[in-house]
Amino acid sequence: AVERTLSIIKPDAVAKNAIGEIAARFEKAGLNIVAMKMLQLDDEKAGGFYAEHKERPFFADLVGFMTSGPVVVQVLEGENAITANRDLMGATNPKEAAAGTIRADFAETIDANAVHGSDSAESAAREIAYFFGEGEICPR
Ligand code: CMP
Repeated sequence: AVERTLSIIKPDAVAKNAIGEIAARFEKAGLNIVAMKMLQLDDEKAGGFYAEHKERPFFADLVGFMTSGPVVVQVLEGENAITANRDLMGATNPKEAAAGTIRADFAETIDANAVHGSDSAESAAREIAYFFGEGEICPR
């Protein structure tokens, strides 16, 4: 089925000038970018996005990292977009990410891991609404 998923190009990948190369991977895989913007997150916006991780030991570092520079948030649309994006990204820990995945090619550490992608249809709906109004999404 055609799905939507939220993608974030994280501060490490933006700092490396890898926005275009990462976006090209989505497009070449047949995912349409139907919304996209660059944002500087603050503690409240990043903390709210990752609220499910609030009690995890890495939460403070995660929020610190995600506010360390601008991010690019995108809505990707396509057949099985949630899984397709996760396959393109590779494992959360870049040391475990398969060759040819975005994290294998662009990420350094589990915090600075280049990209985020929604992990389920429920999180995709929440995460897309967290950053975009319906009027900002341009289906094709
Ligand atoms: P992301 O998919 O954006 O979702 C939560 C993020 O927390 C994850 O990518 C990692 O960048 C970061 N993180 C840091 N430490 C861990 C950990 N031990 N397990 C999972 N995620 C972690």
